[in-house]
Amino acid sequence: MTTLALIGPGAVGGTVAAWLAQNPDLSVVVCARTPFETLEIETPGGAISARPTVFTHPSQASPVDWVLIATKTYDTASAEGWLEALVGPQTRLAVLRNGVEHVEPFLDRLPAERIVPAVVDIPAERGAPGRIVQRRDGSIKVPDDAAGRAFVALFAHTPIAVSTTPDFKTEAWKKLALNCAGAVNALVLKPAGVVHDEAIAEVMRTLVRECVAVGRAEGADLADDLPDTVIANYRGAPADSVNSLHADRAAGRPMELDARNGVIVRRGAKHGIATPANAMVVALINAAAE
Ligand SMILES: NC(=O)c1ccc[n+]([C@@H]2O[C@H](COP(=O)([O-])OP(=O)(O)OC[C@H]3O[C@@H](n4cnc5c(N)ncnc54)[C@H](OP(=O)(O)O)[C@@H]3O)[C@@H](O)[C@H]2O)c1
Repeated sequence: MTTLALIGPGAVGGTVAAWLAQNPDLSVVVCARTPFETLEIETPGGAISARPTVFTHPSQASPVDWVLIATKTYDTASAEGWLEALVGPQTRLAVLRNGVEHVEPFLDRLPAERIVPAVVDIPAERGAPGRIVQRRDGSIKVPDDAAGRAFVALFAHTPIAVSTTPDFKTEAWKKLALNCAGAVNALVLKPAGVVHDEAIAEVMRTLVRECVAVGRAEGADLADDLPDTVIANYRGAPADSVNSLHADRAAGRPMELDARNGVIVRRGAKHGIATPANAMVVALINAAAE
């Protein structure tokens, strides 16, 4: 029996935990901040439910084969106690979150070869603790190494397209390019449809161009037309769709602004690349949200 603990059973974490719990050969524990009895997921193929063991304090936990962390990036520090309890000498850790800094925050806890960074494309929303709507089967991409391949195997029984990629860095920066443009929606508090305004689209392209320059300096293989691809993607989305940065700001929650835009500024500075547009949206959103 493979033992697995998922920290952060929100939209992504709850969906993944419920799917993994469908395999009787996996023992799934959920480490929650807000407790619940069952996971009930409306998936594209129908409803699934699961009744994993739910822990609410690290004192209940002990080392497992796999830890999956799916908290928002700003909740890394608050998950420290869970990692302390769950990570043993053989434990592998998968990091399911946005951004390009999956591995770094955990290197003091376990070596890089036991950490699996994951680019998640599973659109999901949580209505209440344990109650989630999964909009598409979606996909997860991880590096093509021993730990990545072992992670893929965990999902063999699910409809989620979990696969390895030989160039994880590029995948992560491509997702970042899409996400960094979404800061404009969070700034003006308007959903995706605002991108049909060409002036707004050009602001988004500018954010993405900076992301492309910094990503290339970091070693990602990013296409020249990525800014236009991102705009086409936003224009193809339902006009009323709201990205998570926008949703978090509108709800007065903390935001993944540093992971989505601040990182471009920080890494740009390291390479001597100017990123004034991303610096500006970070400053404006932070000031507006105060
Ligand atoms: N949602 C999507 O469609 C989507 C798609 C692709 C990527 N992502 C990325 O995936 C990551 C997770 O996003 P999400 O939408 O799933 O977020 P979410 O719905 O807010 O879920 C985060 C979960 O983490 C829990 N949590 C926070 N601190 C914790 C702690 N110390 N111990 C235990 N649990 C803790 C929260 O608890 P509470 O229940 O108390 O709030 C919540 O259940 C983010 O990086 C996001 O950008 C999301």
